[in-house]
Amino acid sequence: MYFCKIINLRTMRILIINGPNLNLLGTREPSIYGDNSFENYLATTLRPHFEGRCELDYAQSNVEGEIINTLHSAIGRYDGVVINAGAYTHTSIAIADAIKAIALPVVEVHISNVCKREEFRHTSFLTPVCVGAIMGFGMDSYRLGVESLLK
Ligand code: DQA
Repeated sequence: MYFCKIINLRTMRILIINGPNLNLLGTREPSIYGDNSFENYLATTLRPHFEGRCELDYAQSNVEGEIINTLHSAIGRYDGVVINAGAYTHTSIAIADAIKAIALPVVEVHISNVCKREEFRHTSFLTPVCVGAIMGFGMDSYRLGVESLLK
């Protein structure tokens, strides 16, 4: 009984994963992705917003296999994942398989509204294996992604 209470009170742990080229947020195509770096957004907006509600860890990689390893390493350590896989969204069956394999709730996010952009961005291999997808709200897509996991 006491043990269950402790588990219930534990702060949720959420891992945010950014894929290729998202390390350049702030300078990369600012008309599409804005002029804020992800590190700055995380420190000044996202972490303060969720203070006391969840712990947010962050990983970024430009390498498909590293993203897959990061997803695997989330097993048993996190309660959910928010992923912006960048262009791998539109190409990677391997990342989709990893999301299925880890059996954790994963939310797909995009800064831009990919459905309003080039045709090749309209396909996502990740949406069918994620609990949901959020796109088009700029950096706020990440906050909405975390919020959806907390609910
Ligand atoms: C993106 C959209 C992708 O099509 C693109 O390749 C990205 C960023 C977004 O957040 O809007 O790298 O995932």
